[in-house]
Amino acid sequence: MKKKITILPGDGIGKEVTTEGKRVLQKIAELFGHEFTFDYAAIGHDAIEATNNPLPDETLSKLKSTDAILFGAVGHPKYDNDPTLKVRPEQGLLKMRKELGLYANLRPIKLFDELLHASSIKPEILKGADILFFRELTGDVYFGEKGRKNNDNTAYDLMIYHRYEIERIAHKAFKAAQSRRKKVTSVDKANVLESSRLWREVVQQVAKEYPDVTVEHQFIDSAAMKLIQNPRSFDVVLTGNLFGDILTDEASQIAGSMGMLASASIGDTVGLYEPIHGSAHDITGKGIANPLASILSASLLLDISFGLKEEATAIIQAVEGVLRAGFRTVDIADATTPKDKMLNTQMMGDLIVKELSAINVSIA
Ligand SMILES: NC(=O)c1ccc[n+]([C@@H]2O[C@H](COP(=O)([O-])OP(=O)(O)OC[C@H]3O[C@@H](n4cnc5c(N)ncnc54)[C@H](O)[C@@H]3O)[C@@H](O)[C@H]2O)c1
Repeated sequence: MKKKITILPGDGIGKEVTTEGKRVLQKIAELFGHEFTFDYAAIGHDAIEATNNPLPDETLSKLKSTDAILFGAVGHPKYDNDPTLKVRPEQGLLKMRKELGLYANLRPIKLFDELLHASSIKPEILKGADILFFRELTGDVYFGEKGRKNNDNTAYDLMIYHRYEIERIAHKAFKAAQSRRKKVTSVDKANVLESSRLWREVVQQVAKEYPDVTVEHQFIDSAAMKLIQNPRSFDVVLTGNLFGDILTDEASQIAGSMGMLASASIGDTVGLYEPIHGSAHDITGKGIANPLASILSASLLLDISFGLKEEATAIIQAVEGVLRAGFRTVDIADATTPKDKMLNTQMMGDLIVKELSAINVSIA
């Protein structure tokens, strides 16, 4: 298969982890006989420094003509510490999602057995948890009218949803549930919010088209509690932009570290694949970032955008193999990890590439 992949390293550890994600994609191409070509584009702080635009036109036009996007992260301490700055790295991300029509963010939360003890939740509660989140990306308070009034003493962000936005992501969630455990939990705050009442009404209508899938509705406060109390009770979780933002970070604790979780943002055209973590200023440049979230994002890219299931599974098996052998980056290590199994970012990439070759030989 011939495909073009655009890499957006972004800021901070985004650059370090996408380097390893790309190497893994190159190895897959070599092992399975595909031809992947790569190009790069700027986003975030670096793009602002060069063009005063967090998503330059040149980047956007490259993204509109590529087959898939591997993204790192954006963010820089300069902006975190100065909320008055008007041009900000995150604007590049929001604009990119809007321009590319990326309305659904998928986050698989699956705990590798080898990391059961890396989570702050008890292993007996966690074991077997396997959740697929669908977070809506283009509506809600992020894109509703916002502003200040009363001489700057009042601020508002409008929570807004349109029927079509809810319908299209609900269909994606129900379809995904059909090939899993056939359950969708829709999360809202319909006891208080009008936009949530529309959300619930539309999800109930869409559910009628999928009689083989069980649907349940939970309020966000209760869902946040149940996610920690009984994560195995969830299969597909469908929710809006703001609730999804918070719930998926909470769920990242099920997997033990932000450094382990991949995500896919999809719409009707090109797909974007990225770790759920940010640019991690505290560890940038130290070479210790865990690249597995980016490597697992590459697996999602192969699966969802290119339909290469065997190749995607090979990456997951390689990650399992390396973890089973006891190798760890610092974020997933514990007191029992021997010194000679502690890896930096590049060493973890090296081992995954090596493990892939071994898996491929055994498949052949
Ligand atoms: N999608 C994105 O681009 C995105 C997402 C979240 C935050 N951000 C930005 O990232 C910057 C830092 O934000 P933050 O600190 O709240 O979140 P973060 O995800 O960058 O880091 C949170 C914590 O997790 C650790 N961590 C994250 N990824 C890791 C990895 N791969 N390996 C090991 N440890 C890892 C970090 O060291 C840090 O202690 C901010 O500027 C924020 O705006 C960007």
